[in-house]
Amino acid sequence: MTLEKNVSLSTYSTIRLGGTARYLAEVKSEDEIIEAISFAKLNDLPILMIGGGSNSFFRDGLFDGVVLVNKIPGINISLLNQTYILSVGAGEIWDNVVLESVKQNLSGIECLSLIPGTAGGGPVQNIGAYGQEIADTFLYLEAIDKITSKKVRIDKLDLKFDYRDSALKHTPNRYFITKIVLGLKKTNLEPPFYNSLDSYLKTNNISDYSPISIRNSVINLRNQKLPNPKDFYNLGSFFKNPIVSEDDLIVLKNRFSDIPNWKLIDGRYKLSAAWLIDKVGFKNFHDPETGMFTWKNQPLVVVNELATSVDDLIKFRDKIILSIEQKFDITLEQEPIILP
Ligand code: EPU
Repeated sequence: MTLEKNVSLSTYSTIRLGGTARYLAEVKSEDEIIEAISFAKLNDLPILMIGGGSNSFFRDGLFDGVVLVNKIPGINISLLNQTYILSVGAGEIWDNVVLESVKQNLSGIECLSLIPGTAGGGPVQNIGAYGQEIADTFLYLEAIDKITSKKVRIDKLDLKFDYRDSALKHTPNRYFITKIVLGLKKTNLEPPFYNSLDSYLKTNNISDYSPISIRNSVINLRNQKLPNPKDFYNLGSFFKNPIVSEDDLIVLKNRFSDIPNWKLIDGRYKLSAAWLIDKVGFKNFHDPETGMFTWKNQPLVVVNELATSVDDLIKFRDKIILSIEQKFDITLEQEPIILP
């Protein structure tokens, strides 16, 4: 393990903002993580881990501690009772994992194609798209517990998966994920599909629902709607879609009859954050004060154009949140994680 000193953290977040780390190390094995934890303990420094930085960013200023960047490799597939067990090093690029699975004709994560970041980040925020979530196929993960420096296994139930949420999002930095394990099937998805995927398949006369074909459609859809983080610095959806009670929805519908909403199994309703942002005039909105803007095809994505600090990002975020509170009396929740 090589520790670098005074490293700019902006290159470790796809929004390209954030302060400096006193120490940073890329780790490729459990042993390297344990070694780094010992170093941090010995020097009385906080330590935390990141993956691809596509859903997290550091505050401005100095993080006087140790940042580990997960680079643990490995994709293995084995068969157990007709389920294909996909065992993945947490530092693998997530989309490579999806690609590998569809090459083997395995279904379960094909709709999660092109989601940026590493495999280890997947369960933390329960990545989801086009009707699939990683929670659907997740079995367990392995991690190093920072407190004991021991390897632990955490099962799906203990992760308490929810919409873009898991227990790990609420116990940040205790467990350094080393491996994730998924269970996939050799089948095809069946209709009905998620709305936008369904219209894409129909418009393009696609009736091949094999994992590779669905992956290709998802990639085309995402490329139409979402900016590439390499060209436009962003963190994917910056807000969660708000979830409201039926009573609240009725009140909202009286004032905004066309408000899009989807009933959830628990009887509550999911609203579209993109629609709300659009309605308060923040779609494709370039803010000269902060150097941030919202993406033209998907205003849920905020892009760093000329921002110089996380402060700019937070200011822009709060402008959007405030406008929506004033018009709809709904408070949008930020989706990416702020570190430390
Ligand atoms: N809409 C607008 N204006 C727009 C875009 C969308 O009003 O400019 C409304 C429409 O009513 C549309 C609705 O928003 O029907 C929903 O749009 P979409 O199906 O694209 O999904 P989303 O809610 O905007 C979510 C995820 C995305 C994921 C897509 C596709 C969250 C926070 N975001 O977006 O995930 O790719 O569904 O499944 O749940 C991410 O998490 O980083 C991410 C990109």
